[in-house]
Amino acid sequence: MDAVQTQSRPVDTPNAAFTPRVLSGIQPTNHLQLGNYLGAVKRFVEMQDSGIQTLYCIVDMHAITVWQNPEDLTRATRELAAGYLAAGLDPKRSILFNQARVPEHAQLAWVLNCVARMGWMRRMTQFKEKAGKNQEEASVGLFTYPVLMAADILVYHATKVPVGEDQKQHLELTRDIAIKFNNDYGVDFFPVTEPVIEGVATRVMSLRDGTKKMSKSDPSDMSRINLTDGADEIAKKIRKAKTDPEPLPETLDGLVDRPEARNLVNIYAALAETGAAEVMAEFAGKPFAEFKPQLADLAVAKLAPLSSEMARLMQDPAEIDRILTEGSERARTIAQPIVKRTYEIVGILT
Ligand code: TYM
Repeated sequence: MDAVQTQSRPVDTPNAAFTPRVLSGIQPTNHLQLGNYLGAVKRFVEMQDSGIQTLYCIVDMHAITVWQNPEDLTRATRELAAGYLAAGLDPKRSILFNQARVPEHAQLAWVLNCVARMGWMRRMTQFKEKAGKNQEEASVGLFTYPVLMAADILVYHATKVPVGEDQKQHLELTRDIAIKFNNDYGVDFFPVTEPVIEGVATRVMSLRDGTKKMSKSDPSDMSRINLTDGADEIAKKIRKAKTDPEPLPETLDGLVDRPEARNLVNIYAALAETGAAEVMAEFAGKPFAEFKPQLADLAVAKLAPLSSEMARLMQDPAEIDRILTEGSERARTIAQPIVKRTYEIVGILT
């Protein structure tokens, strides 16, 4: 997590003609982890209360760009919906849905695949990381993944997209695709979306290695806090989190070359809804033996109620399915006319 990189990229094209609208999404793979919560879901809830229309999806079609066991995918989709609800997303105030139920995402993605350039796609660092050394074996879907993400956003003319730092390059691509489409067809049809990458938790790092991002797919479960973890697991993972032998420094500058210490301070700040400077003011000079138990107490107080609420919601999968179906229908009423108009602009008979 990096306290310095908290600014959104400046917007060079104002979207005055577009109704402000927020969209974001999360992949239903494994369990939600603390980075997803602090970097994304918690921000989604804040934006739900900002008076702007908010749409939050579960990107099941993105999930299958790498192999997913079908039963696990279904469970993870419902569990992510339970996570959204437990964190405070309200299906009356936000549109909550799963991507595949709104076929307009895939329809627009095809058109945008024909706008995006190979050279742009080859620069996507997340593809290189996920495909690893053997790119020939990666699915074609994994390569065009960011175009589907652009479609998720542009199919609603969304103007703001709250995400963690790792999604920045994908959102820049979304802007490039929107600009190229508008230029190619001589229209001002798609907005140039504003990434919202703000706060102290835009990049929560692994608890085992402060230079690696906390991730749902890290092979070590001790590297992350899952939102399904109970109080004992949360406390144990924080107790065992890697640190260095020095006490906490006197100032924020003292955290610069101490990634693990900086990560724990940022996690504390994000959970306590304060700044890293305030946390430093409280704990400067204190040893980790004193800081960690306080962080563990805070994390348990904030996260354990979420995991028990998720477990409760998971007992009624029919209700979760009902919420997602209804959300998908509402989402389609926005997406359908936008795809129709896109086809007309391109010259496709509809
Ligand atoms: P995904 O599923 O990997 O992650 C979901 C959200 O969580 C954020 N995040 C983090 N934030 C802080 N620290 C971390 N360690 C951390 N790990 C994950 C991610 O930045 C993201 O905001 N491509 C997207 C999903 C997507 C999407 C979209 C997002 C598909 N379509 C349209 C926005 C708009 C992804 O894989 O996120």
